[in-house]
Amino acid sequence: MSGLYSLARPFVMRLDPEKAHRLAIAAYANGLYPHSRVPDPAALKTTLWGLDFPNPVGMAAGFDKNGEVPDQIINSGFGFAEIGSVTPLPQPGNPQPRVFRLQKDRGVINRLGFNNEGHDALATRLKARVDKGRIVGINIGANKDSKDRHQDYVLGIKRFAPYASYLTVNISSPNTPGLRDLQAREELDKLLGVILEARQQTIDSGIPSRPILLKIAPDTGSDGLKDIAEIVLKRGIDGAIVSNATLSRKNLTSVKASETGGLSGRPLFDLSTHILAKFYTLTGGNLPLIGVGGVEDGRTAFEKIRAGASLVQFYTAMVFEGPELVAEIKRDLLDHLAKDGHDLISKVTGTGAPEWASKDFSERPVIAEREDTA
Ligand SMILES: Cc1cc2nc3c(=O)[nH]c(=O)nc-3n(C[C@H](O)[C@H](O)[C@H](O)COP(=O)(O)O)c2cc1C
Repeated sequence: MSGLYSLARPFVMRLDPEKAHRLAIAAYANGLYPHSRVPDPAALKTTLWGLDFPNPVGMAAGFDKNGEVPDQIINSGFGFAEIGSVTPLPQPGNPQPRVFRLQKDRGVINRLGFNNEGHDALATRLKARVDKGRIVGINIGANKDSKDRHQDYVLGIKRFAPYASYLTVNISSPNTPGLRDLQAREELDKLLGVILEARQQTIDSGIPSRPILLKIAPDTGSDGLKDIAEIVLKRGIDGAIVSNATLSRKNLTSVKASETGGLSGRPLFDLSTHILAKFYTLTGGNLPLIGVGGVEDGRTAFEKIRAGASLVQFYTAMVFEGPELVAEIKRDLLDHLAKDGHDLISKVTGTGAPEWASKDFSERPVIAEREDTA
């Protein structure tokens, strides 16, 4: 299968991004992806939350929102897959077009707005999975029209604890109006309180305790980040994912750069890695972090780990490079590891955090969240 995507790329790039995405899911579902047959080297293995990750490179949320192909994603070489975001009720998301490739900048802007088939459809698919040995995280969100967003997260925890290797609480999507307000100090404290209560109920009913991770936005000022770190530590949340897409725009050259929505890919790398390092520092290196935003090769994956990540994820680079990229990243990671003089990838975590935390990428013009299009 190797090289298939390279041949198909000119055709795929001419398709509407959402059509191309549906084609990619169909390709995975039908076995048309590069199968990773060689076990990952021991140097890339990491254990976190009692889970043995064969390698630290995961598929980010948003690619497989409805949990159609998590096993195939992992068979293609990813160490783990995060599916979702899923909301209690199915919802169509925003009007199309709502995903834009920024070819020259190697970025994507999306304002999908949590389009997904809802809890029931996902639960049915997960129940039918045969091989449950792989690490699959489930990313939960809230419906746009929900009267009680806290309750939406509670429902997500209860519904998916039986199937999830870990659960991600996504309050950082830029495309659901008001969602990011849940990151504010008191709101977050309350939300995490009810979420942990819901998890306790799942434990009491005999389901193993699932790690809960919080996914945060990169457009969070220093005070906000400090508040989030404090509350996450106080509440005993198991980890964080840094970061979601950004509302900021800087130095973009593509014609689609002024579209409203969350920007991901290469233009997000510096900012999200800086925020990751700051969050690593604020949490004293004690909280496992997943670094995401602009990972596109071994170097960017390695820098995320140096900045404080124990695991990394990517999505946008898949759009441009295809599914062969994961194997390439793993190969390059090993080279970087050898050059850096370490024998295990887990030993690299945070070694470059002071350097990344002190770089200043925060002076970015931020486009305000627009209620009408978000
Ligand atoms: C088209 C698209 C859809 C996404 N949907 C979700 C989502 O449903 N939930 C979520 O937590 N993140 C979602 N994300 C954000 C990614 O998981 C990731 O945090 C972000 O894109 C940065 O990583 P990247 O630069 O490797 O893409 C989406 C990203 C893209 C490009």
